[in-house]
Amino acid sequence: MSTEKTIPATLIPGDGIGPEIVQSVTEILDAVGAPFKWEKALGGVAALDATGSPLPKETIESIRRTGLALKGPLTTPVGGGFKSINVTLRQEFGLFANVRPTKTIVPGGRFENINLVIFRENLEGYYAAMENYIPYGDDPHAIATSAGYTTRRECNRIVRYAFEYAVKNNRKRVTLVHKANILKLLTGLFLEEGRKVAKEYEGRVEVNERIVDACAMQLVTDPWQYDCIVTTNLFGDILSDLTAGLVGGLGLAPGANIGEKAAVFEAVHGSAPDIAGQNKANPTSLLLAANMMLAHVGRQDLATRIDKAIEKVITSGAVRTGDLGGKATTTELTAALKQALV
Ligand code: NAI
Ligand code: MG
Repeated sequence: MSTEKTIPATLIPGDGIGPEIVQSVTEILDAVGAPFKWEKALGGVAALDATGSPLPKETIESIRRTGLALKGPLTTPVGGGFKSINVTLRQEFGLFANVRPTKTIVPGGRFENINLVIFRENLEGYYAAMENYIPYGDDPHAIATSAGYTTRRECNRIVRYAFEYAVKNNRKRVTLVHKANILKLLTGLFLEEGRKVAKEYEGRVEVNERIVDACAMQLVTDPWQYDCIVTTNLFGDILSDLTAGLVGGLGLAPGANIGEKAAVFEAVHGSAPDIAGQNKANPTSLLLAANMMLAHVGRQDLATRIDKAIEKVITSGAVRTGDLGGKATTTELTAALKQALV
């Protein structure tokens, strides 16, 4: 087995806990002989401070070259300030599919044996954020509006991606999650395309439908009925944090942003400013994202080795960070994971 670093990939340490968890994950990837040749690039507040831009040209060029990136979380200002770099990257590279698997790793939680995947449309919906104020009387901000949009093309593409994934990964069912009873056009179009695509997979993958609020409730009362969920942007954002909560929180939730020419892998969580720089962050979400990246480049063998180390160390409870009720530091967990690699 070759351990040569032959696959160029962009590495964005990011903000807050980003540099700590990126350090941890690259150490583990090195230990397992992952083939990535890293091009380090800046993004987020770290980039803004260093270069005056939250997404420097060099970073975009690097991803365009490599078509592959592992990204730490990036801080986004709330309310005003610059536009989310995560959203900008998705749009710049047409990363249409956000794939977020949720799997029980730590036993003894409120929910056992969870194993589902959320596919979130990544380019449209309310994330288009075409927002405006309308003045009334003396108040220039009396009314706020936001226009979302969905296109037949993207609805079709994300649902098809979910069904293709289901076929390739022996998944049984895809649930179309929508709010077409109220947003009859915006999410009705999604449902219409979803039903159309589902017909092509008849006999191979089951399909059903849920309204998003009922889905949220069922995910907490009976999450096992779900296998693959495909939905529009904002609903997918919210439901994937919910499902992360089912299996022990944001420390165990990876995500991939997939496009035709590039793929960006990241944790579902943000930059966790409350614990940044304290050696407390759980690197497992980003490590699981790196595993998705390994699978993406055809190295499932290495991902499996890392998965086994995670099982040995975290599932067994030997070493856990604070978010999972343990006392270990990021560096202690990293060392334990490296040692557990076979
Ligand atoms: P957050 O996910 O950063 O933190 C929420 C809570 O979870 C905090 O208590 C944090 O300490 C904890 N947490 C998160 N990741 C953890 C880890 N790996 N180990 C242990 N504990 C962890 O969400 P928040 O506070 O809403 O957002 C902070 C910043 O991150 C914001 O600027 C937000 O816009 C940005 N963000 C970036 C994302 C990205 O780059 N993909 C995704 C989500 C948020
Ligand atoms: Mg989110």
